[in-house]
Amino acid sequence: MSAKIAAMSDRGDEPAASRARRGAVGTAAASEQERRYLTVVFCDLVDSTVLAGDLDPEDLEELYAAYTGTVRRVIEAFGGFITRTIGDGVVAVFGHPTVHEDDAERAVRAGLALTAEVPRIRLAQDVRLSVRIGIATGLTLVGRDQAGVSDLFGATPNLAARLQTLAPINTVVVCASTHDLLGGGFIYEDFGHQALKGFKEPAQVWRVLHPTPGGSRFAARIRGRLPPLVGREAALQRLQAAWDAARRGRGRSLVIAGEPGMGKSRLVHALADPLPDDSARVVQLNCSPLFGGSALHPVAEHLQFAAGVGKEETPEERHRKLAAYLGEVATLDPADAEFAARRLGQNAAAPADGRVDGDAMQRLAAILTDLVVAWSRHRPTLVVLEDAHWADPTTLDLVEALDRRLTDAPILLIVTVRPDGLATLAGLAGAEQVRLEPSSSAATGCRCSSRSWRRTCCRPARCRCPARWKARCWRGSAARSRSARSRRPRR
Ligand SMILES: Nc1ncnc2c1ncn2[C@@H]1O[C@H](COP(=O)(O)OP(=O)(O)OP(=O)(O)O)[C@@H](O)[C@H]1O
Ligand SMILES: [Mg+2]
Repeated sequence: MSAKIAAMSDRGDEPAASRARRGAVGTAAASEQERRYLTVVFCDLVDSTVLAGDLDPEDLEELYAAYTGTVRRVIEAFGGFITRTIGDGVVAVFGHPTVHEDDAERAVRAGLALTAEVPRIRLAQDVRLSVRIGIATGLTLVGRDQAGVSDLFGATPNLAARLQTLAPINTVVVCASTHDLLGGGFIYEDFGHQALKGFKEPAQVWRVLHPTPGGSRFAARIRGRLPPLVGREAALQRLQAAWDAARRGRGRSLVIAGEPGMGKSRLVHALADPLPDDSARVVQLNCSPLFGGSALHPVAEHLQFAAGVGKEETPEERHRKLAAYLGEVATLDPADAEFAARRLGQNAAAPADGRVDGDAMQRLAAILTDLVVAWSRHRPTLVVLEDAHWADPTTLDLVEALDRRLTDAPILLIVTVRPDGLATLAGLAGAEQVRLEPSSSAATGCRCSSRSWRRTCCRPARCRCPARWKARCWRGSAARSRSARSRRPRR
């Protein structure tokens, strides 16, 4: 292993700037270089030297081909890019050449998927493969040689390589920066501060156990610290009115549209946590950019969480728990419960290939729609489909089918979507739409709604803003009065 890290260090331990100055980064220095904030995954095959000693060269070649093929497939499925292989150590990067908003999460999910997939590789020889994964995030120099091949330089790839030496077999460990970016999206074991060769300061290290069960992007983002809702009073009132009508049996659907970060999830949270009605049930379906090809992934995640299925359970155990939940708790007919459990109990750790058996999916969608409508007869139900721009087509079909059943059911269906996904919601054309625009109040800390900014906020007596915005309102108000006076015809 140390030879592999040395191979990286040969090119990476030296500060990027001085390397770039003296042009020592091979052909990369002669061509293109850029500094990027990237997440680097270092995947190492355990006991590779023992395997090399035990196997024929042909068998070894077959083993390496199977191993590197699996690593490449998994890394690419999560949107990563393999920059180099050093023997059986593979270096992959997330954030280059394609940038995603959730690159750190993708890297960690890819790492976790590798710890599950590599041991499943079946070879003619009776060997079981294992890996250790180290993941680090930081500023990294990306070099491209004249052939356009990318390589990484700087401390981050070396940190990832050093971290993997601390990982127990078939586990993932991450550095502090990666941990910070992941927020509350995963469950960790704290490995404390660890001395790492080549690094002056001990590094804080975490082992990632699994994604937070039932977690959403919003929950991961706020990490349990929720600042008060700023502005959005009118939008919240519309949501509350819709919920009020729905729980009285006049079901309806509502689409909240807005650019990323505009506060769609914050608004839903303001209604749903807690709902004014104690007896109500919330069914939260979270779409993910990684699982747009996995039919009904948001539904499967929700039901598995409700059924208490653990992230590391065997397929048999997942199936048993889900069938029991759907049959006994959700009171589905036994044949339907068995059918749904078989379809929804698969482990969705890696993105699926998107193939869907149409008839079966239709039957499943019908079972699930009936289930939500039946639930609502006992308790008013809020169904939230978060991030519909990433929804798989079957989940959208299901939501449209539910929308058609709402009229006399105590169900409020709320769908959040970014503007680029609105077109996929054509089937919800009858839904009320709440469009979230940038609000001067939300952006500045003023508690007045943006539409009333001029009319209300600038009347000092009615202004509810914090002091500094009050001062600004006063100035605006005085300026407007001056200009109105100057426009007034003189007598
Ligand atoms: N009106 C608001 N008051 C207080 N905090 C807000 C408000 N709007 C947004 N935020 C905060 O801004 C961040 C982004 O908001 P949120 O996650 O709701 O955006 P979003 O529109 O759902 O984005 P995405 O499309 O990425 O899901 C969150 O931390 C949220 O708490
Ligand atoms: Mg959101």
